Amino acid sequence: MASMRLDKLLAGTGLVSRKEAGVLVKKGAVTVDGAVAKSADLHVDPETQTVTVNGRPLQYKEHVYLMMNKPEGYVSATDDPGPYVVSLLPQNYQKIGVFPCGRLDKNTVGLLLLTDDGTLSHRLLAPARHVDKEYLVRTKFPFSVEDEAVLEAGVDLETGVHTLPCEVDIRGEKELVIRIREGKYHQIKLMLRAVHNQVTYLERISFAGIPLDPSLSRGEFRELTEEEIASLKKQAEG
Ligand code: URA
Repeated sequence: MASMRLDKLLAGTGLVSRKEAGVLVKKGAVTVDGAVAKSADLHVDPETQTVTVNGRPLQYKEHVYLMMNKPEGYVSATDDPGPYVVSLLPQNYQKIGVFPCGRLDKNTVGLLLLTDDGTLSHRLLAPARHVDKEYLVRTKFPFSVEDEAVLEAGVDLETGVHTLPCEVDIRGEKELVIRIREGKYHQIKLMLRAVHNQVTYLERISFAGIPLDPSLSRGEFRELTEEEIASLKKQAEG
């Protein structure tokens, strides 16, 4: 990795803004290879040099990976009128250029990954990749075992798309979990319409085998763990 400005390196961790990084340096809180850094524009190579902040070694990460529990009323596509999910993140993440990996409709809630890793996102969303997405669905009308069989086999949507086989678990008269491996536009809503029903509540409960963290309230987020990131990367390559 090429060297970069110290304030950019510190801000890249998502912990502080570039301005705050400059303040830390001025305070003498940052060392590079054991010497107190005198200036925020010092060039540092995080792979070969050791940077500490307040005595703690900096864990430099090239990219940021976040899991958000998306609330209703926020859009995940920049070309839609807002409010935009990214606006729920602190400025430091917004400045790094974190964006949603895939889309959820404005009124869909639940697991949304956000990252600044364009390569990984692109690979996970590639149509041929078939990454699992699991949704909790509530319907307007009762959902039958016949409907389950139709959706599981693959169904023609009104858009002309034929869906791949998927798994459906009936949880109640009007509640089910659907696991799909593709991600067509409005797929779950259109699948329910294809069996003459209507979605009244839609929550993504897992993506690429990573479940939504139950400790996150709507609108909250956390960084993915090392294990979760490794699992995503494995799926992106597989
Ligand atoms: N399917 C939908 O219809 N909407 C979503 O937001 C996600 C999947």
